[in-house]
Amino acid sequence: MSTLTRRVAVTGVAALIGVTALAGCGSSNNNSKTSGGSSSGVQVGVILPDTTSSTRYVTYDKPLLAAAFKTAGIKADIQNAQNDKSKFASIAQSMIGEGVKVLIIDSIDAASGAGVEKSASDAGVKVIDYDRVNLGGSAGYYVSFDNELVGRLQAQTMVDQLKAKGVKKPNIIMMDGGTDVDNNAVLFKKGAHEVLDPLVAAGKLVISQEAVVKGWNVANAAPAFTQALTANGGKVDGVVAANDDIAGAVIGVLKNSGLAGKVVITGQDSGVPGLQNVITGLQGMTIFKDVKQEADAASKLAIALTKGTDVSSAGLTLTKFDDPKLPSHNIQALLLKPAVITKANVKDVVTAGALTVAAICKGIEAQCTAAGLS
Ligand code: BGC
Repeated sequence: MSTLTRRVAVTGVAALIGVTALAGCGSSNNNSKTSGGSSSGVQVGVILPDTTSSTRYVTYDKPLLAAAFKTAGIKADIQNAQNDKSKFASIAQSMIGEGVKVLIIDSIDAASGAGVEKSASDAGVKVIDYDRVNLGGSAGYYVSFDNELVGRLQAQTMVDQLKAKGVKKPNIIMMDGGTDVDNNAVLFKKGAHEVLDPLVAAGKLVISQEAVVKGWNVANAAPAFTQALTANGGKVDGVVAANDDIAGAVIGVLKNSGLAGKVVITGQDSGVPGLQNVITGLQGMTIFKDVKQEADAASKLAIALTKGTDVSSAGLTLTKFDDPKLPSHNIQALLLKPAVITKANVKDVVTAGALTVAAICKGIEAQCTAAGLS
C-alpha cells in the first residue's frame, strides 16, 4: 500500500525531473552537471528482477546494495520490477529521466534487459549487468559469480553425498532454473552436466528426467517435479535443484510421497529457508554466493563510472567476458567465487556476516544445536 503510494510519488517527481533534465540537454553547463549529479541527487539506479524466484533479492541484494552505497555516500535508488518486464522498463525510464549516471540491472530476461541498455546508452547512462548478463546487449560491465562453477559444485556435492550414503548407480532428476530467460540458469545446467554426463557415460549414474522451471517461475516447480517423479514410478535418489526455492518445492512434493529426507537435493542462495532445509537434513547442500562481495563490487564500479575515474583505481580487476550471441560486445566482467554449504559448514554463512545464527535457527533451535550451530 505504502509502496504503491511511494512509487507513484517517485514516478511523478521523476517525470518532472526528466523534463528539467531534457530542457538542460545540450547545454554544457546545466544544473545537473554543475551539481555533480541529478537534481534529486540520485546518481545510481538499481533494478532487481522479482521477489519470488529467490529469497536473495529481499534478504541479500537490496539491503547489501543499499548499505554499500550508503557507506560510499552515494545516493542510489533501488527498486524491484516484481517479475514484470514493462514495469522494469518504466522504472528504468524514470531513473534515466531522473538523471542517474549509472544503471545496475538484474534483468528478467536478456531481450528486455538489452532494451533497457539501449535506452540507457542513448541517454549517455552507463550500464552494469548485475548477476545476470544480457547476452546480445550493450552493457559495458558485468558483475556476477562463476555460474558454471555453481552447477559443477551442486552436482559434485550431490554425487559425493550419494556415494557416502552407499547408493549405487543413483537415479537423478534434474530441475533446471529459467534456462529460457537467464544465462545463469544455462550455466548452472551446463556445469552440472559437466560433472554428471561422464558418470552417465560410464554407466554409474542415470539422469532419468530433466525438467525446466521456465522463467524461474517457482510456482511451476512442484507440478513439474510431480510429473517427473510420477514418470519415474516414484523412484529418485538425487535431485539437482537449481536453487533453494526450487528445492523447497521439490521437498514439498517429497513430503507428500513420504520420501522427504531420503533424497539428496541440491540448492543455491543460502537464504533462511534453504539453510533450514540443509540443517534439518531435507536438502543436502546449498551454494553460498556472498552477495555482499557482489554488491560491493557493483557499487565500487558504479561509483568509479559516475566519477569518470578509471575502474582499476577502484581496486577491481575486470576481464573481458565473451558474449556468444554478440562476439563484438565488449563487456568487462568480475566473476566471484561461489562456496558449497552443507550441514557441516552452515557457520560460514554466519562468519561472512550474511545472516545471524538467531535468524537461521528460528524455529529449528534443537536441530541447530545438534548441528553445532548455536
Ligand atoms: C541467480 C540465482 C537465483 C536465480 C533465481 C539467478 O540468476 O544467480 O541466485 O536463484 O536467478 O532468481
